[in-house]
Amino acid sequence: MLWLLQLLFTPLPTPAVIGLITFGTTVFLWLITKPKPIPPPFDLNKQSVGTEGGARRSAILDDNKLVSYYCEDAKTLYEGFVRGRYVSENGPCLGYRKPKQPYQWLSYQQVLDKAEYLGSGLLHKGCKPSGDQFIGIFAQNRPEWVISELACYTYSMVVVPLYETLGSEAIVYIINKADVSTVICDKPDKAQLLLENCEQKKTPGLAMVILMDSFDDQLKERGAALKVEILSLQEVERLGKANLSRPVPPKPQDLSIVCFTSGTTGFPKGAMLTHESVVANTAAFMKSTELTTRCMTSDISISYLPLAHMFERIVQTLMYSNGAKVGFFQGDIRLLTDDMRTLKPTMFPVVPRLLNRIYDKIQSGAQTKFKRLLLNIAVARKQAEVKQGIIRNTSLWDKLVFKKIQEAMGGKVRIVVTGAAPISSSVLTFLRAAFGCQIFEAYGQTECTAGCTISLPADWTTGHVGPPLVCNIIKLEDVAEMNYFTANNEGEVCVKGPNVFKGYLKDPEKTAEAIDKDGWLHTGDIGRWLPNGTLKIIDRKKNIFKLAQGEYIAPEKIENIYIRSVPVEQIFVHGDSLQSFLVGVVVPNPETLPDFAAKLGAKGSYEELCKNTAVKKGILMDLVKLGKEGGLKSFEQVKDIYIHPEMFTVENGLLTPTLKAKRAEVTKYFRSQIDALYASNM
Ligand SMILES: *[C@@H]1O[C@H](CO)[C@@H](O)[C@H](O)[C@H]1NC(C)=O
Ligand SMILES: *[C@@H]1O[C@H](CO)[C@@H](O)[C@H](O)[C@H]1NC(C)=O
Repeated sequence: MLWLLQLLFTPLPTPAVIGLITFGTTVFLWLITKPKPIPPPFDLNKQSVGTEGGARRSAILDDNKLVSYYCEDAKTLYEGFVRGRYVSENGPCLGYRKPKQPYQWLSYQQVLDKAEYLGSGLLHKGCKPSGDQFIGIFAQNRPEWVISELACYTYSMVVVPLYETLGSEAIVYIINKADVSTVICDKPDKAQLLLENCEQKKTPGLAMVILMDSFDDQLKERGAALKVEILSLQEVERLGKANLSRPVPPKPQDLSIVCFTSGTTGFPKGAMLTHESVVANTAAFMKSTELTTRCMTSDISISYLPLAHMFERIVQTLMYSNGAKVGFFQGDIRLLTDDMRTLKPTMFPVVPRLLNRIYDKIQSGAQTKFKRLLLNIAVARKQAEVKQGIIRNTSLWDKLVFKKIQEAMGGKVRIVVTGAAPISSSVLTFLRAAFGCQIFEAYGQTECTAGCTISLPADWTTGHVGPPLVCNIIKLEDVAEMNYFTANNEGEVCVKGPNVFKGYLKDPEKTAEAIDKDGWLHTGDIGRWLPNGTLKIIDRKKNIFKLAQGEYIAPEKIENIYIRSVPVEQIFVHGDSLQSFLVGVVVPNPETLPDFAAKLGAKGSYEELCKNTAVKKGILMDLVKLGKEGGLKSFEQVKDIYIHPEMFTVENGLLTPTLKAKRAEVTKYFRSQIDALYASNM
């Protein structure tokens, strides 16, 4: 409290004295109103218990019966929506806004009606109300996405999301693999992209494109010439309204969505998820949070994470089945803060990359010594409270220091869920203090819908991903080649329960690799059970990792492309899930380096050239060029490199006898250089 003392011993002008008295009163009030810790609703020392076959289940469950729904009347996504209308008494459902305008809302009934019209329109155009009718949705998050999706569910059709980052080739693959004849898109340029593929005769089955935004006659004509009907969403809705069909609701075991995820190699794989899978995963989240932060009709979620991913789909399912509201961002991530200030969401789903950015911003915002000191004291005090189980946004420190941060999120956030990639302990602990609300960390993958574990409310600790969700059990399996054994409570994470997917669409081989004959999903992640029953993810089975934003990286594939660079003799690509980009260590070829350097105007001995920044830049540019030619995506390219003058060898312990990089060893060896590369490229 040094700064407080300084303040006291400085002669003060009158307004400051008044200010100080007010401040003193605030401190006093704060001291007498400091809340008592609330006992955790669960025994945090025993978060999971053993069950059949060495697996573990959540300790929240009373018995071994896994949860597959929360409400008797909401066992499918369609029923969940209908329930939302009922519990909200037809309240506002989907919100959207124009720049600088307040949010406008569609009510539950309006959304249900529009979905019925659109669905009837699709049937009128020849779609079948059945589980083998796949409808593509190719759009950014917006109300029409949800209306299109609900149109499918109302008539037992299946949604296949498409998204731009898949790349054109993958989109062609998906359209053909899933026999998608109808795609609903947001903007004319996406329709153009689809028509281009038709022109090249790559997607013979595509017959109809429905657009949310307006378009010109030229597009319609171009489509007509290719025998692809181009219609507006309003037209199809009108058509459906005039030719209304009765809903054909799906059963829980029916497919709801085929979610294609891009792997590191080959084509994307379409994970088939039933209504039950999605409902079960959502129900499990509700079960974990019902005692502390139950989802209510008054809740509002901000929708900006891609709807094509299951994480956002679960959040939305949670909202709709509880009659809550979903407000969409304007479509530009740079305006997210403005959207949040206007929407005032209570639920904020996030990915670690965004949390890292908020963290960096808060840290760099504390410019002066005084501000930094104040921030550090505030965080320390709030962390001490969090450790006692007090989660609040009303302390003195919130008023003095964190108010601005909380208000940038709209000032009403009470639940934050992070997923898709791991988050560092320091960022998570810091933000739990700064946000003053519950931050849950979930772990999972599309193949188990979205999550298979989640941290429990009142568990403020980090370094684990919580116990199994109540919709699945988890067991570990030996991975002998990597020295992980279940006898040591370590092994590959395997998941079983109603949220596990039904396989990859028309791909029995890949399905068999993912789910064994007893129904266990093999995640490829290596986990460890901690004594308190939580799971910690410690490694990846294959040499594949995710960057902070969730994209898979196979470093060897990248190295195989880079190694073709003339001045390069050896290359090591590094990244991990706490970082958002890759860096590399390059050992140049002593024979080709001088020539390469000479072209850049650099001369000197091999060692000198290795230290030359122009040479480094030249090599980096050459790598990126080769990467581009070799089809690497931008996140698969290294952002910076360190040039090392000594070969990796078997003798110095950096290569295996078969001359492969010992990746863990190389990383350890170059730790300081790697850290420096990240630090200088932030
Ligand atoms: C504090 O949290 C509550 C919900 O827990 C919310 O209603 C309130 O608006 C929050 N205040 C601020 C300043 O974030
Ligand atoms: C659970 O165990 C891990 C490892 O022992 C520890 O880091 C964490 O703080 C524990 N959490 C709780 C809530 O006891």
